[in-house]
Amino acid sequence: MQVIKSKSFILRQYREGDETAVLRYMNDRDVSKYLSSAPYPYKIKDAKEWVKKCVRAGRRKKKKFLSFAIELNGKVVGGIGFDSIERREAEIGYALGKKYWNKGIASEALKLVTDFGLEQLKLKRITAHVFPQNKASSRILEKNGYKLEGLLKGHHSKNGKLSDALLYAKNHKSMNFIIIHGVYANPESNWFSWLKKELESKGHKVIVPKFPTPLGQSLESWSRVIKKYESNVGGETALIGHSLGAAFILSYLEGSGKRIKAAFLVAGFHKLLASPYDEINKSFVGGKFDWEKIKNSCRNFFVFASDNDQYIPLDLSKELAQNLGAKLKVIHKGGHLNMQAGYSKFPDLLDCILGAA
Ligand SMILES: CC(C)(COP(=O)(O)OP(=O)(O)OC[C@H]1O[C@@H](n2cnc3c(N)ncnc32)[C@H](O)[C@@H]1OP(=O)(O)O)[C@@H](O)C(=O)NCCC(=O)NCCS
Repeated sequence: MQVIKSKSFILRQYREGDETAVLRYMNDRDVSKYLSSAPYPYKIKDAKEWVKKCVRAGRRKKKKFLSFAIELNGKVVGGIGFDSIERREAEIGYALGKKYWNKGIASEALKLVTDFGLEQLKLKRITAHVFPQNKASSRILEKNGYKLEGLLKGHHSKNGKLSDALLYAKNHKSMNFIIIHGVYANPESNWFSWLKKELESKGHKVIVPKFPTPLGQSLESWSRVIKKYESNVGGETALIGHSLGAAFILSYLEGSGKRIKAAFLVAGFHKLLASPYDEINKSFVGGKFDWEKIKNSCRNFFVFASDNDQYIPLDLSKELAQNLGAKLKVIHKGGHLNMQAGYSKFPDLLDCILGAA
């Protein structure tokens, strides 16, 4: 059974010997009041039953129930896991000792266990049922991309009383990503292979075409390449371009008549740069773009730039973001956000992509 590590705690299977720790964090009126099935007072027999249930479930091959103990500095301080795992759906639940509240522990545990559910258990949908008064629980779900779907009247039965529940859910939607490299680059350059692997591990489809460069590089030759992948471009597509790849995305969106979900333009540009590259780049950025047309072809633009890019002045990136009504993320001393600047991985970009996906 898997151990999931965060910077400050680990998530591991419950085991015999955890009973007193479970009793310590569960036997608290404030902890149990929004847990529909937890008794109060919580007794040692309840803790024993819980640990036994978790150990037994951990041994089963086909799991309907899966719970992790949250261990902080060698001490079990809470738990989080899935119940009712069926047909690629599950319900998530969690509880943490009061002493440890409001330190970000449950938010992080929820992120890790949600990722585990979507990636390892291949769940398509995770739900949570929350007492409407439980603001902290709603907050951590929302922070982790769970959406409020509605109010279930009388869903919870606690101490013989029916109470309403807010239904939160996170649905896994598979997207198509196309990563477009720049001049003198290829599908293996920079952070492209790393990003492909990361997105694929989350169930998305990722295409990284190879465009002719520098030999045979032109807007026309690149357009011929992207045409082969056009059946993958639609409302659930995001295009990610680096450097000239970003300029190519602008041309593509201007001319294709497609409407996509998002575009991520990294160290991109939309004009000639008064550099030796202008000659081979001019068919991409030598003219004027129709910004309205481009904006109408994509729901969200994100521009990543750096404040010491040797090729792209920051003012140009600001202008690009402004033309697109895009969010601009400036990375301090990120150079051209390429391998030479240390970018074989790009976690900031991945976070932004997953947040928008
Ligand atoms: C729900 C629970 C797991 C949250 O754990 P936690 O580690 O304190 O959560 P975090 O610190 O990661 O985040 C709490 C968030 O809620 C916010 N919050 C806390 N109390 C709040 C309140 N009364 N109103 C609004 N927001 C509140 C915090 O500010 C924080 O948000 P922020 O990160 O934007 O500042 C914990 O309170 C708990 O164990 N409760 C009892 C069991 C329970 O209710 N389980 C959920 C059943 S659905």
